[in-house]
Amino acid sequence: MQIRIRRGWEIPESRATPEAVVTARRSLLGAGAGLIASAGAAQAQWLKPAWLFGGAPVKEQPRQPREAPRNARYQPGRDVTPEINTTTYNNYYEFGTSKNVVGPAQALVVEPWTIRIEGMVASPRSIGIDDLLKQVTLEERVYRHRCVEAWAMTVPWVGFPLADLLRIAEPQAGAKYVVFQTLADDKMMPGISEGFYPYPYTDGLTMAEAANELAFLSVGMFGKSLPPQNGAPIRVLMPWKYGFKGPKSIVKVIFTDKRPISFWEALQDTEYGFWANVNPAVPHPRWSQARERLLGTDEMVPTQIWNGYGEFVADMYKGLEKERLFA
Ligand code: MTE
Repeated sequence: MQIRIRRGWEIPESRATPEAVVTARRSLLGAGAGLIASAGAAQAQWLKPAWLFGGAPVKEQPRQPREAPRNARYQPGRDVTPEINTTTYNNYYEFGTSKNVVGPAQALVVEPWTIRIEGMVASPRSIGIDDLLKQVTLEERVYRHRCVEAWAMTVPWVGFPLADLLRIAEPQAGAKYVVFQTLADDKMMPGISEGFYPYPYTDGLTMAEAANELAFLSVGMFGKSLPPQNGAPIRVLMPWKYGFKGPKSIVKVIFTDKRPISFWEALQDTEYGFWANVNPAVPHPRWSQARERLLGTDEMVPTQIWNGYGEFVADMYKGLEKERLFA
């Protein structure tokens, strides 16, 4: 029996957007971004989906103000991507496999939101996101984000170091990995019942990676709470790794001594591995990783090893050269 496995990034032909439409949409984007920036927030909530994708406008969920001082230690070396591009071109498979999930994602109910902490910890427990936020100090960090599909963006995220969550969770000494599990609710998320993907979406890190100063939990972007399509109310960011190592809308954090198999690795381990660090010299089996397309301008620029964050992270991988560090 031959089983046809649709690969991670394949979308059915019927869902692919004709090139002419994409080109027209991009010029609209260029013209529209300034206009939308100058429009009132309430108006922009209605304008955005209609401008981009046509059809009936989608009312976006209101976003709360979430401003925090910018941490100047992390300089992106690139212009920030216009907010409109970062919030309308998304990967959130639970809401659909196209990039246009802004409409269906508005069904995500983000309040109340509880995160379960379990596995090898001092005491397993659940914590409400408001309680969690009372125990941390928010800051803004402008990070480059590199998707394995070879597009990239630069985003001012608001959040707190993942190391703070480790402190709060109190992992046992024997814990070697931390695993993030995300919401899988078939009432809100149409993709869950399609039955093809191994939901819930999960991904994991070593404890050293999770404790690295760059590892970040985001609860906002552009000075507001996260929109659903970008992973509200809380998501992981690992800026030196491909974007799929950053699960959105996390509901469970599990500490374990066994290396986890992530969502993408379970689907296609020849293409997606555990480490997934960015490296332009190691192609994906089906495409080059040498360059990346910047959302907003479509400029193609060279990709940097560790996504340019080597000074912070390269030392963690010494002695692991035999591992598939870059897939
Ligand atoms: N998290 C969940 N739960 N579901 C997803 O489909 N996609 C990942 C990651 N986190 C994904 C996810 C991938 S492949 C990327 S590149 C980023 O989210 C995209 O984040 P963005 O849509 O905010 O740009």
